[in-house]
Amino acid sequence: MVRKAVKRWEDNQITGIGRRNARTSFYKDSQKRMSLNGQWAFLYLDAPELSPEGFEQPGPQEGWDQIDVPSVWQLRGYDRMHYTDVLYPFPINPPYVPDENPTGIYKRTICLDEAWLEKDTILKFHGVDSAFDVWVNGMHAGFGKVSRLPSEFDITKLVKAGVNDLTVRVYKWSDGTYLEDQDMWWMSGIFRDVELINEEKNAILDVQVDGTLDDSYQTGLFTARITGKQPLKEAAWKLSYRGEMVASGEAFAKEAQICVNAELKDVHPWTAETPELYEFTVNTGTQEVTVRCGFRRIEIKDDNFRINGQVILLNGVNHHDYNPTEGRTVTREQMEADIRLMKQYNINAVRCSHYPANEYFYDLCDSYGLYVINEADLECHGFEWVENYTWITDDPAWEAMYVDRSVRMVQRDRNHPSIIMWSMGNESAFGCNFKSAAKAIRTLDDTRLIHYEGDFEAEVTDVYSTMYTRLKGLKEIAEYEVKGNKPHVMCEYGHAMGNGPGGLKAYQDMYRKYKRLQGGFLWEWYDHGIYTEEDGEIYYKYGGNYGDFPTNGNFCIDGILMPDRTPSPGMEEYKQIIAPVDITGVEGSMRKICISNYYDFLDLDAVTLHWEVVAEDAAIQEGWMTDLAVAPHDSTVLTLPIAPFELQANTDYYINLTVCQKEDSLFAPAGHEIKKVQIPMQIRRDEFSVREAADQLRVSDRAGILTVENSLVKARFSTVFGKLLSFGTEDRAYLTEGPRMNVYRATIDNDMYKKEDWMNKYFLQKPVEETAYVNWEEEADRTIVRIGTYFSCYNQSWGFNCNYTYEIYSCGQMHVELQGKAVQRGKLEPEFFPRIGITMRADRKLQNTMWYGMGPGESYVDSKAASVMGIYKNTVDGMMTNYVFPQENGHREQVKWFRIGDGRDGLLCKMKAPLGLNLANYTDESLEQAQHPFAIEKADDVIIHLDYLHSGLGSNSCGEEQLEENKVKLQDFALAFTLQTVTEGSEIREARIQYIE
Ligand code: GAL
Ligand code: MG
Repeated sequence: MVRKAVKRWEDNQITGIGRRNARTSFYKDSQKRMSLNGQWAFLYLDAPELSPEGFEQPGPQEGWDQIDVPSVWQLRGYDRMHYTDVLYPFPINPPYVPDENPTGIYKRTICLDEAWLEKDTILKFHGVDSAFDVWVNGMHAGFGKVSRLPSEFDITKLVKAGVNDLTVRVYKWSDGTYLEDQDMWWMSGIFRDVELINEEKNAILDVQVDGTLDDSYQTGLFTARITGKQPLKEAAWKLSYRGEMVASGEAFAKEAQICVNAELKDVHPWTAETPELYEFTVNTGTQEVTVRCGFRRIEIKDDNFRINGQVILLNGVNHHDYNPTEGRTVTREQMEADIRLMKQYNINAVRCSHYPANEYFYDLCDSYGLYVINEADLECHGFEWVENYTWITDDPAWEAMYVDRSVRMVQRDRNHPSIIMWSMGNESAFGCNFKSAAKAIRTLDDTRLIHYEGDFEAEVTDVYSTMYTRLKGLKEIAEYEVKGNKPHVMCEYGHAMGNGPGGLKAYQDMYRKYKRLQGGFLWEWYDHGIYTEEDGEIYYKYGGNYGDFPTNGNFCIDGILMPDRTPSPGMEEYKQIIAPVDITGVEGSMRKICISNYYDFLDLDAVTLHWEVVAEDAAIQEGWMTDLAVAPHDSTVLTLPIAPFELQANTDYYINLTVCQKEDSLFAPAGHEIKKVQIPMQIRRDEFSVREAADQLRVSDRAGILTVENSLVKARFSTVFGKLLSFGTEDRAYLTEGPRMNVYRATIDNDMYKKEDWMNKYFLQKPVEETAYVNWEEEADRTIVRIGTYFSCYNQSWGFNCNYTYEIYSCGQMHVELQGKAVQRGKLEPEFFPRIGITMRADRKLQNTMWYGMGPGESYVDSKAASVMGIYKNTVDGMMTNYVFPQENGHREQVKWFRIGDGRDGLLCKMKAPLGLNLANYTDESLEQAQHPFAIEKADDVIIHLDYLHSGLGSNSCGEEQLEENKVKLQDFALAFTLQTVTEGSEIREARIQYIE
C-alpha cells in the first residue's frame, strides 16, 4: 500500500511555505521591533485534524487556555514528558508520523498603527518545534520547519491598522521529526522568541562580512556584501574598532547587492583568547545596521587546522539548550551565565550539539571568545537501530530537507568569527544528502571547515571527527596516516554521566602529544534533569519518572553542570586538566619549577603566579610572581624565592601554586584562579614519642564477648563473629562497629557495564566474613587481640584470608592492622573490584569532620586534579556530592588521618600509610537502591570506609574504561591505623605525634 503525502507536515518536498531566505541577524538595527513574547491563547489537541472549524479566523476563543510564549508545552501541563536517546517513539515509516499528533494552536492579537503600516511587517519565529502553520487575520501566511532555526514571513499584505489576529498551529510530529532525533526530551511548541520587524521598504536584508588575514597574519582583509530588498542606491559604511573609525566609504549601486572591501594594517586579530571585534555599520539614510567582524584566518596547513597560522587545541564542551524548569527555552541571562562559566573553567570551545543555538549565543561566543562548532539541526539516529541507517540519508528524495538545515544555519550565522566549523549534523550515517549539504555549505562559505562525525571516512569533511574513541584507537589515529591524514577532533568524549568522568588526563596528554589530534569536546555541559517539587522534596526527574516508555532513564543526566547549576566535581577536574598553564617540580630542587604555557596565542605575562609554602594546614611563606614571559607553547624554569625555614616536627610541607588571571576580563576579575598545582616538598623532621602508661587494662571474656578496658578505653569484640563490636570509653561507644572487609561500592553510572557481573554473578554486595580464630595476649601496657577471618561473597571461590591485629594501649589508643591474602580456589573472579577496604560504623552524633588528605572536594584515583593535600573541615553530609541519580560519591584520596566529632568529643583515626576515605550517613546499599536523593535511606550510624585501593571512575557509561592501573585486581593487601578519642581542637596536635612501635 502506498500512501500519498497529503499533509504538509508529512511532505518532505516542502521545506517551508512563504518563508523568507535565511539571513544574518544584525547586531544592531535601527528598525523597530515588537516582541510577541508573552501570554497567548492556547488550545491543545490530539491531532491537527481536530482543530475547531474557523480556528484560524479572528474571534474570541472561549474555553481556551493561556500559555507562555516562549515555552515548551510539556512543561506547561500539556501532552506528556518523554525522554529517549535514540528511539523514535513511533514506527519508522518516513515521512509519515502518527495520526495521534499532539497539536497546539496559539492565538493572539497584535495592534498596529498607521505609522507602522507605512513600512513592511515581518513576522519572525526564532524556534518552533517541530513544524507550524501561520495565519494572519484568517489568511494563511506560511509554514515552517526545522525546529531550531528561525523562520521569517513577510505578512505586510495581510495586516491592517488596528487589531490583527495571529494564529499559529504547531505540530509535535512532522517529517522533520525524522531528522530531529537528538538524544533529549521530546519537547514541543513555540520555544524561542517571536517578534515583528517593522521593515523599511528599501531595507537592508543582509550584511555578510568576512574578516581574514593576509599571509603575514597582520593585515586584515575585510569584505562585505550588503543585500537590499531593492537596489541599494546609496549606502555609507564604516568600520570601527572600540568606538574608533578605522575605515569608511560610500557605496552606490543599481543592484540589490553592494560589495565593500578594505585592508587594515596591523589589525587586532580575533582568537578565543583575544576576542577582538570590529563593528561594521551601514547606513542607507532610512536604516542603520551594525554587524560585528573578527579578523581571523582558518586554514589547514601541514595537516593541521590553524587559526591565524597557529595550530590550536580545542578544549571544548558539548552544549544543549537546557533549563530544568523551562526545558529548551533558555533566557539570554542563562546563556551568558553558561558562557561565563565555560570561560571561567578554561573551556575554549563549544559544540552546539546537535542544532543551532539562539542567535544571541553566537554573539556571546564572539565577545567572550570561544571557538564554535555550529551544528545543523539534524540527527536520525533511530535508523541505526533498524540497521537501515542510510534509509533517508542516502535517499535523494530527502535532499532538500537535509541541505536546507545546513544552508539556513550558514546564512544566519556566517558573520560570527567564533564559528570555525560547520557541522552538518549528528549520528545520521552518511549518504548522498550529506554530500549535497557539504557542497551547498562550501558555496556559501569556504572560509570555515566542514565537520560531521557521521562521515566516517572523512570523505567530504575537512576534519576527521570521532566520538568516544578509546585511547588505543586514538593513538592509532594519531600515528597512522588514515582518512586523508585530516586533522582529528573528538566531537564527544569524557561522558560526564553521574560520578565522573575519570581518566581525562590520559586524553589531554594524547592531544598535547600528538600533532594530528586537535582536542575534543566533553560530553556534555548540562544534566537534563527536570526540576520537581513534590511532598516538600525538591529533586530532578529523568527519563521514566513520568511513566515514559521506552526511555533511556538517567542517560540524560550526563553533564558537568548539575541541574541547579552547581559545577560538578567532573567540571572542577576538567578545568584543571585543560588549564592553559601547567607547572611541575624540577627533580632535585626544592625551589625550581617548570611552567608551561599551553595558550595558543597569549604570552604568560597575562597571568600571575601565587606561591606558598604550606605546613599541612598553614602557609608559612608566600608571594607573587608576575612578568612571566613565556611564549605560547613554550615553557621555562623559574626559581621560587623561598627563604630557609625551620622544620616543625612530624609535619609535611608542600608548595601550593595558583596561576591567576592578571587583569579583569569579561568573565572574571583579576586574581581569578586558572590552575592550581601542589608540589610536595621532600623534607620532614621526624620525632618519636613513647606512649604513657595509664591504669592496667582489664580483660574479660563472657558469653562470646571479649572486653578490654580501663579508665580511658573500652573495646569489645565478638569471639563468635570474629569482629570488633565497639571502641570508645566506658560510657560512650565512638565506633559502633569495627572493621569489616569490603570490596563493593554503590555502583556509579560508569560501572553500568560491570554492574551486572559485580552484583549478579560475583555478589560483591553480599560479603561474608567467617571467623577462623580469635585469641589475645596481655602485655604490660597493652593487650593484643588477634582475629583471623575468611572473607568472600556468596557462591564465590575467590576470597581473602584476613588477619586482624588489635593492639589496645592503656593510654586509650588502639592500633589496628589488617593483612589480607588473596585466594582463588576456582577460576572465576571479577576482572576488577570496585575497591578493597574496610567499613566501620560510628556514633551518628559525630557529624563534624576534619581530615588531612586530598580535598576539599571528592577525589578518585583517576579524577583528582582539582584536589590537593591539606587539612580540611566539613560535615558528614557536606562531604557528599548529591548526584541527581544516587551513586558512590564523596571519596577522598590519600587520607593520612581524619577526625569525626560532635562539637566537643571526637574520634581520631591516624593511618600508617594513606588510605582512601568515605564518610557518609547512608550505606552503600541504600545509595544503590535510591532512585533520587530524597529516597536515600539514612543509616543509624556514620558509615566509614577506609580503602586500601578504590578503582577509578573511567567514563565507560559511554567511553573509555578505567585505565588498567586504576582497576583494583584481586590481590594481597595491608592497611593499618590507630584510633583514639580526642577533644575537638586537639586533633591536629594529636595527629602529629608519632610513636615508637
Ligand atoms: C552520542 C550522541 C550524543 C549523546 C551521547 C550519549 O552518541 O551523539 O547525542 O547521545 O552519545 O550521552
Ligand atoms: Mg544520538
